[in-house]
Amino acid sequence: MDYKKAENKIKEIIQDSSNVLQDIVDFLCDSFEHYSWVGIYIVEGNNLILGPWKGPHATEHTKIPIGHGVCGSAAESGRTEVVDDVHSDDRYLACFVTTKSEIVVPIKKDGKTIGKIDIDSDKPAAFTQDDSMFLEKVAELISPYV
Ligand code: SME
Repeated sequence: MDYKKAENKIKEIIQDSSNVLQDIVDFLCDSFEHYSWVGIYIVEGNNLILGPWKGPHATEHTKIPIGHGVCGSAAESGRTEVVDDVHSDDRYLACFVTTKSEIVVPIKKDGKTIGKIDIDSDKPAAFTQDDSMFLEKVAELISPYV
């Protein structure tokens, strides 16, 4: 699906859904082949707690201290993290044997990180600048629902 179409669809879901975060996660996972596992983590104190997710398997990393893993780094810096090869990144916390690359996008409210979108791909270097820009827009749109 093209990113502009997807953004419009996301705006529709936000208007119509009574379960925005889960429906957005499902939509992202179903619409882009290179999004193998999609999850939203919510900041609670010094941890990230896994909220809605969709993918072939559950992850054991349902609670990640801020500052740990690729997820915790993005939460700490407030910047999008793109990892082309998870096995060459020392911060990487392994969830699935099939994962090759990962993107983590902070969700912010009033400049503060309140959560993040985490996507694993079974394809190496799957995430482009278009994915970053699109997912940063998604993060902005869903921020009021976190
Ligand atoms: N790989 C992440 C942990 C979460 S799982 O990918 C779902 C990390 O390094 O923080």
